[in-house]
Amino acid sequence: MGSNALLVMLLWGSGLARAWPSNRIPIPRQVEATATCPSTSTYSTPNGLNFTSHCNSAISRSAYSDNPITSTTFTDCMNTCSTTSTPCYGIAFTERNSTCYTLTNGTLATEPNLTPDSDVDIALVDPVSQLTGVDDSCPFSNNTLQATTSGLDFEIKCYTDMIPFGHYCPWNLVDDPWCKLHTDTMDACMEFCAEAHPLCRAVSWNPDLGNGFGNCYLKDVNGTLVSGEHGGYVIHSALVQLPALLDDEGPCPSSLNYTSTTFLQVRKEFEIRCYEARGGTGNLTTVHTASLEICMDRCASYDPIADSESNFGVETPECVGVVFDRSMAGGYENCALLSEVGGSMGDINSTFARVTKTVDPREEGSGSESKAWIAGPVVGGVAGVVILGVVAWWWRRRRMAQGAEEALSPDAESKPVVAPYSIVSTETDHGTGNGPVEVEARPPQYELPGADSPQTRHELAGH
Ligand SMILES: *[C@@H]1O[C@H](CO)[C@@H](O)[C@H](O)[C@H]1NC(C)=O
Ligand SMILES: *[C@@H]1O[C@H](CO)[C@@H](O)[C@H](O)[C@H]1NC(C)=O
Ligand SMILES: *[C@@H]1O[C@H](CO)[C@@H](O)[C@H](O)[C@H]1NC(C)=O
Ligand SMILES: *[C@@H]1O[C@H](CO)[C@@H](O)[C@H](O)[C@H]1NC(C)=O
Ligand SMILES: *[C@@H]1O[C@H](CO)[C@@H](O)[C@H](O)[C@H]1NC(C)=O
Ligand SMILES: *[C@@H]1O[C@H](CO)[C@@H](O)[C@H](O)[C@H]1NC(C)=O
Ligand SMILES: *[C@@H]1O[C@H](CO)[C@@H](O)[C@H](O)[C@H]1NC(C)=O
Ligand SMILES: *[C@@H]1O[C@H](CO)[C@@H](O)[C@H](O)[C@H]1NC(C)=O
Repeated sequence: MGSNALLVMLLWGSGLARAWPSNRIPIPRQVEATATCPSTSTYSTPNGLNFTSHCNSAISRSAYSDNPITSTTFTDCMNTCSTTSTPCYGIAFTERNSTCYTLTNGTLATEPNLTPDSDVDIALVDPVSQLTGVDDSCPFSNNTLQATTSGLDFEIKCYTDMIPFGHYCPWNLVDDPWCKLHTDTMDACMEFCAEAHPLCRAVSWNPDLGNGFGNCYLKDVNGTLVSGEHGGYVIHSALVQLPALLDDEGPCPSSLNYTSTTFLQVRKEFEIRCYEARGGTGNLTTVHTASLEICMDRCASYDPIADSESNFGVETPECVGVVFDRSMAGGYENCALLSEVGGSMGDINSTFARVTKTVDPREEGSGSESKAWIAGPVVGGVAGVVILGVVAWWWRRRRMAQGAEEALSPDAESKPVVAPYSIVSTETDHGTGNGPVEVEARPPQYELPGADSPQTRHELAGH
């Protein structure tokens, strides 16, 4: 089986055997609360606003907001400042009575205006340019569709706001202010919405930060559109256009057994259970797929070794099952890859599929079943894979020779990088070495009839 061994080498060597880059939910950082003025003088709030603290300093009371917040901590006071609906330039905190004032006068709230005071601690937004927004103009044409990197379309509504104004808090985070996100671009705000659970239906975005540093608002209801030109600031909105799913199978497929169709990779046999979700499960990742079958194929091609690279060497468990949510009520990412199956939970919208058998062609001996399976693809595919391997090798050499500034793959470049979430840059790093190979040598499964059309379309269109 020399050709088989060669294939295996090519697959591993070229990165073809890697699973999809696992997408991770960019949960805003949770930070330990500090009750007192910290000795380290800089602090970054969960949504990315940076402060420098000045302990035992005071500032003119005319810089204070009208209403103090009581029973709070120094850290929470800064977090509040990052989520107010008016520009907030800093905080004044009195430790003795745990009282917090936000500083609303940007002229007064500067370092030269500080005076020594053992009763009060100050933290100033530093640099203050973080509160300078971007151009108010609408970043896209009115009523056009714009896709996220994961292929979710949004319909752009320029100079439009949405009632109710309140944002919802996805990711089940307890502290509501954490959910008032900040993004430098409208695209990045839409990316958050595409990855939110439960389903995010729309975003409103304030480019000029006239409504505070938290300028990206996620909505879980279909709001009423209203004028987005408020006194002093502007809002643009974008409405989620959920894609249609492939309807060949329906919510409960007629055959409850399925064998993955992944090409020359570990293939898995699944047992399907309709109208069932799983509680207490460990999710490897959640992705969007257009059908249950594609979801199961993703599970089959999930590669724990490839994923462990992006986890800094910590090996992650294998995919042992999926929960597929046709309704997308739980989010656009409707396919959860599970590392443990957990307990049964009734759910009219979900389909659960458990891996019953895993067959790894790399380890397969001389079983007749395996030969029969591998013969077809091998005959047709060997030539192609060899060519792809050579092309990938050639490309990689060429890229290496081109120097560092060209190292980012097109995918990595198109993904908006949002400041406080280091996860994104991890993916970028991860993509740097393998990007070109992935693009060139992408397994043919994605082009089969089952492939996600939105994703494919987006990648072709790029933007
Ligand atoms: C805030 O601080 C973090 C960490 O030091 C840094 O990565 C980020 O760029 C800073 N943000 C701004 C807007 O300066
Ligand atoms: C807390 O103490 C400061 C400084 O003495 C004072 O200005 C402020 O009014 C006090 N706040 C409350 C709520 O007592
Ligand atoms: C900030 O304070 C200065 C000095 O007291 C004052 O002249 C200015 O009008 C204040 N600005 C605002 C926006 O309140
Ligand atoms: C965008 O289109 C909507 C209609 O779909 C309209 O109500 C709105 O005024 C338009 N906005 C601009 C800035 O043209
Ligand atoms: C929200 O709007 C979408 C289409 O824009 C529609 O499919 C959906 O049923 C609406 N949901 C509610 C709760 O009205
Ligand atoms: C599914 O596979 C199991 C064995 O894994 C078998 O017992 C069962 O009969 C199969 N069901 C169908 C519908 O093929
Ligand atoms: C895993 O995904 C399922 C289905 O989307 C969801 O119901 C569950 O809450 C998730 N579990 C965790 C730990 O995120
Ligand atoms: C099923 O999906 C619908 C939307 O299609 C949603 O309204 C309903 O709450 C979902 N049911 C469950 C149990 O999640």
